[in-house]
Amino acid sequence: MTTFTPKPWPRKLRSQEWFGGTSRDHIYHRSWMKNQGLPADLFDGRPVIGICNTWSQLTPCNAHLRDLAERVKHGIYEAGGLPLEFPVFSPSESALRPTAMMYRNLAAMDVEEALRANPLDGVVLLAGCDKTTPALLMGAASVDIPAILVSGGPMLNGWFRGERVGSGTALWQMSEAIKAGTMSQEDFLDAEQAMSRSPGSCNTMGTASTMASMSEALGMALSGNAAIPAADSRRRVVAHLSGRRIVQMVKDELKPSDILTRQAFENAIRVNGAIGGSTNAVIHLLAIAGRVGVDLTLDDWDRLGRDIPTIVNLMPSGKYLMEEFFYAGGLPVVIKLLGEGGRLHKEALTVSGGPIWDEVKDVKNWNDDVIRPVERALTPQGGIAVLRGNLAPKGAVLKPSAASPHLMHHRGRAVVFEDIDDYKAKINDERLEVDETCVLVLKNCGPRGYPGMAEVGNMGLPPKVLRKGITDMVRISDARMSGTAYGTVVLHTSPEAAAGGPLAVVRNGDMIELDVSSRRIHLDISDAELARRLAEWKPNVARPEGGYAQLFHDHVQGADTGADFDFLKGCRGSPVARDSH
Ligand code: FES
Repeated sequence: MTTFTPKPWPRKLRSQEWFGGTSRDHIYHRSWMKNQGLPADLFDGRPVIGICNTWSQLTPCNAHLRDLAERVKHGIYEAGGLPLEFPVFSPSESALRPTAMMYRNLAAMDVEEALRANPLDGVVLLAGCDKTTPALLMGAASVDIPAILVSGGPMLNGWFRGERVGSGTALWQMSEAIKAGTMSQEDFLDAEQAMSRSPGSCNTMGTASTMASMSEALGMALSGNAAIPAADSRRRVVAHLSGRRIVQMVKDELKPSDILTRQAFENAIRVNGAIGGSTNAVIHLLAIAGRVGVDLTLDDWDRLGRDIPTIVNLMPSGKYLMEEFFYAGGLPVVIKLLGEGGRLHKEALTVSGGPIWDEVKDVKNWNDDVIRPVERALTPQGGIAVLRGNLAPKGAVLKPSAASPHLMHHRGRAVVFEDIDDYKAKINDERLEVDETCVLVLKNCGPRGYPGMAEVGNMGLPPKVLRKGITDMVRISDARMSGTAYGTVVLHTSPEAAAGGPLAVVRNGDMIELDVSSRRIHLDISDAELARRLAEWKPNVARPEGGYAQLFHDHVQGADTGADFDFLKGCRGSPVARDSH
């Protein structure tokens, strides 16, 4: 049973180390703040709340967050706090190269240091695009001052010629249709604007929507936060209410470490199965858990998610988009259904200060085609399958709800690409010896190999296979896959090829067996042959010289533990450093 006892109020807060006195340094800290026109009584010991903003025009999914920050400020002032908005590095999924994931840890460091070094008692985390949510949660967890997350919300539904156009998902489908000769380039260009018709993050159950849902399931956001569209006025309301709420959280001293318990992570893993959430959630939750000392493992994902049916009928696993999910009742309905099925730690604490069950027990499902009853689940066994075998001694993942049932048990000949450039050079070549029974193998795309672990695991199929009307093949890599993508794709194979994992020594013509029901991924060569090949293997990824790329190369950990930096694991708290003057 999770219990939380609010601390007595009033008491001296950490911001008073900066503002609460008459010394030269106190005057210095207050006086410079006052150049913004802040009245003297705002420094009287009330909670000082940071608004940690990932707004950026280079992160279009978060480009509306300045407006939301203003709504948060209304709530903070109303509750008697002092809001101070600040920017942090904003990793944009749609713009950053080589991949936004390379910068998640950088953003988390930025958040952590900004929170600890500044006169803040609590923080509202404004996130949206994929990596911004885990980065903010990781940073806040390592500082452990009261924190609440507000998502930017998804874009409105895309529509193109009478059909829903899901962010990302439609892009992958249309590009494959062009290769198959069933769509023209002109139509593809016409669809471009239809995909993104309002502010917000991807409107599928991609990584952004998944991580917004994870935040809510973990208890780090107000109930209902995840699904409200960015353009809906209720998105502003939840921002306003979160501003009010954080002030009380500071007074009560309700911290991330009170909320981010093992129970909370177990709830989130089950919710991920029910929503058909992104495989990226595996990496991000492992990293967040590492920041608060919860010993979460890949095996927890398999054990807890294995019997969870996917009941949310959203692309890429299903038919609808986030707008319809919101109208149906959103994540609280899913959490309630899990609770009724005995698959929820009902007493897990949330930012509300109470148990998660209290937030959801009275909600209703307004559309049972969008949020299905268990009897009509999209996939009876959703969750994330964690595969092991001689090809992935430290594990690999597959998303059953996005895979093809007929490929879940498959044996095929390996067609190997040494890296992403090799793949791009060969995949469209009609001379490539490949058919739909083969297994496409892509190496050197893990955290170190393709710095950041790019979302290339759902590699497109060869045109000659697509022209037969085939839309799925078994694919294996150490890469990630966009949460908006689909297919029978084995991802995050660990150890990665660039670290000398067995994936590095797969050769063209080897036979590979995938058996999802027994969680097995096997390279069909003898142990002696595998050992011989591994002994001959030589590192083939150069260490970058200098800068963040070198730091990343030297310190990033494997996907099986969350791809955090080794030196960032754990909570370092919020000690106030001595003054510099
Ligand atoms: Fe930003 Fe999808 S690209 S949420």
